[in-house]
Amino acid sequence: MSWQSQPLNKRIVAFDKELIHAGNKGLAIDHEEVAVEVDALMATMTLSQKINQLHGLQPASIDGFYYAGGDEELGLAPYKMVDGPRGARAGMATAFPVAIGRAATFDVELERRVGLAMGLEVAAKGGNVILAPTINLLRHPGWGRAQETYSEDPWHMGAMAVAFISGAQNHVLTSPKHFALNNLEITRFDLSANIDVRSLHEVYLPHFKRSIQETAAASVMSAYNKMNDVYCGEHPILLTDILRDDWGFTGFVESDWFLGTRSTAAAIDAGMDIEMPSTHWYSEENINEALASGELNEEAIHRNARRVVYQNVAWQIADMEVPDERVVECEEHIALAREVAEKSFVLLKNDKILPLEDTPGLKVALVGDLADTVNLGDRGSSFVTSSEVSTPLSGLQAFIKHASLHYFRSDDDLTRLGEFDICIVVAGLTYVEEGEFIPTQQQEVEEGELARGGDRETFALPDHQRFLIDTVAGVAKKTIVLLEGGSAIQVTDWLDKVDALLMLWYPGREGGHAIANVLFGNCSPSGKLPVSFPRSMDQLMPWDVNSLSVDHSLLHGYRLLDHQDQEPAFPFGFGMSYTTFDLDGLQIERTADHFNVTVSVTNTGTVSGVEIVQLYVSCTDSTVFRVPKELKGFGRAELEAGETADLEMNLGDEDLRYYDPEQNGWVLESCSYDLQLGVSSRDLPLSSGWLFDGVEWQPV
Ligand code: GLC
Repeated sequence: MSWQSQPLNKRIVAFDKELIHAGNKGLAIDHEEVAVEVDALMATMTLSQKINQLHGLQPASIDGFYYAGGDEELGLAPYKMVDGPRGARAGMATAFPVAIGRAATFDVELERRVGLAMGLEVAAKGGNVILAPTINLLRHPGWGRAQETYSEDPWHMGAMAVAFISGAQNHVLTSPKHFALNNLEITRFDLSANIDVRSLHEVYLPHFKRSIQETAAASVMSAYNKMNDVYCGEHPILLTDILRDDWGFTGFVESDWFLGTRSTAAAIDAGMDIEMPSTHWYSEENINEALASGELNEEAIHRNARRVVYQNVAWQIADMEVPDERVVECEEHIALAREVAEKSFVLLKNDKILPLEDTPGLKVALVGDLADTVNLGDRGSSFVTSSEVSTPLSGLQAFIKHASLHYFRSDDDLTRLGEFDICIVVAGLTYVEEGEFIPTQQQEVEEGELARGGDRETFALPDHQRFLIDTVAGVAKKTIVLLEGGSAIQVTDWLDKVDALLMLWYPGREGGHAIANVLFGNCSPSGKLPVSFPRSMDQLMPWDVNSLSVDHSLLHGYRLLDHQDQEPAFPFGFGMSYTTFDLDGLQIERTADHFNVTVSVTNTGTVSGVEIVQLYVSCTDSTVFRVPKELKGFGRAELEAGETADLEMNLGDEDLRYYDPEQNGWVLESCSYDLQLGVSSRDLPLSSGWLFDGVEWQPV
């Protein structure tokens, strides 16, 4: 076939900024105009009116909402804030898959749609701030709230975060949280996260910076913990030097709830604007005492109050339209929740058993209490209640038309499983083993229900779950494990005994229907791991869930495993499909300030599927310590059998720099850069070397 008739490959742009940021009201603010209006309003305000902008209005939520600021006399409606990263925690709402599952899709366009849907549901309930996304880096997979964040990698985290924020900010203000270094759960109120300047800027802050600079997040929630022995809620380096002076943040900072504020003058001076959920340190009495003692001056109060009023005016909170309540759990959002769940599942093992065929005569056993349990994730602040939830059992019962399906509870007689062609066992974790740890909730639990949560001391499944898998695998002809959980789980002790393993995360209200669609091949699994699955905790840094002092560095997750040359059970970015793919035709063009990277992806199998191509960069002769490689791009190619697409990624020079504490700034180093592309952090078949001499780039 001559070149004239050669069909052009489908072209896919990995991160279409125009598409992702469309409709984000935060990016459309006319700051000059708002400043004039706000300053005129501030000039009329009394000290008391300014102080009233600085705290929440009541300790408990009202129908899920927390109120803050506002002033009827001034025509300012209050902020109505609601959690969270899984959906609207107010009455019934669409419970989406948890954030780490959504991150496994590596699909920023999809995450934008989730942001749109959650923002719309919050607005339809009369809210105007969604307390999301959680973007604390997954430093260690044992973190109790791992399910609530996106990734162990800052670039991946940033991409997912800005997609969510720009979607949600079509409707409401967002509040990326918890700023910063909130990476341990049980001791979060007291621990000090210790970190050097370079690791802070290069690893733990880039995704917050993108949330501010790229997508104009309207607010930020400060963290409970300390950073280098100073509470984040009163840390001038975090809240003023970095957030405002360095990044140009124009939004407001609200504290985390209750223990997120620890002082009056120190917190106000540092730049924490709103004490949530109600007032104590920021009471008029405490503030007037601090003014009288000279600890505090009125300029600081004016400055903080102005930031609170500024977003109120910029977003015209008082005139915000309230969409029709029928959008809540509407068919479109339910279908979206199902699509996300399907794309979030990560196929980790498949010994030629999946997909199944729904044929007469096929005898399928579904085993385990979790198969018939609503398991949406932890019961902390990100909990969401949906009017209907499909479990693995109800999803398979609704799907299967020809095969026979028989359900066994965990304590049923499992010796009969040998009669079945396929045994599907649902195992994993629940809110008991991991999640947000709320001491007061723990004390108030009723009917023996554990509100537990907290960090995990082990990656291993609870004994009864491992026993169930061993028992099933011991009698079944073929065993498929469906694993529910919010982070890495140890699988090495039973993986060899089973024929297939699918990681489900906490798959949301449509999880059961999504499981049926993937198991029976209506769609191929396409998820990739947003967190490394180590063989055991021994492969990672020391982990003490009761620690009050946690050291942070450039090394964690796949960066640490690479540096120590450790082989995980499953690497970051890994995930299988029902089809196969081939990458070739790598082309890299240099422009003024970035690389255009194009690679051809072909579906070489017999069914449609998705490949997620990842771009990592190594610096091979740097004058400073560098981790072996860093993710700096990814793209998603959805392809029919036999189809090829040209996937384009943009790698900006700003993503190649390291942070130099001496210069207190970013450096694009003159050295060799190796651009590597592939389908997981440990499978990078294509590469291209480049030498930067300080002025010119040359391929090597
Ligand atoms: C919690 C959480 C925070 C949440 C807030 C309100 O303590 O740390 O993420 O938004 O309280 O529920």
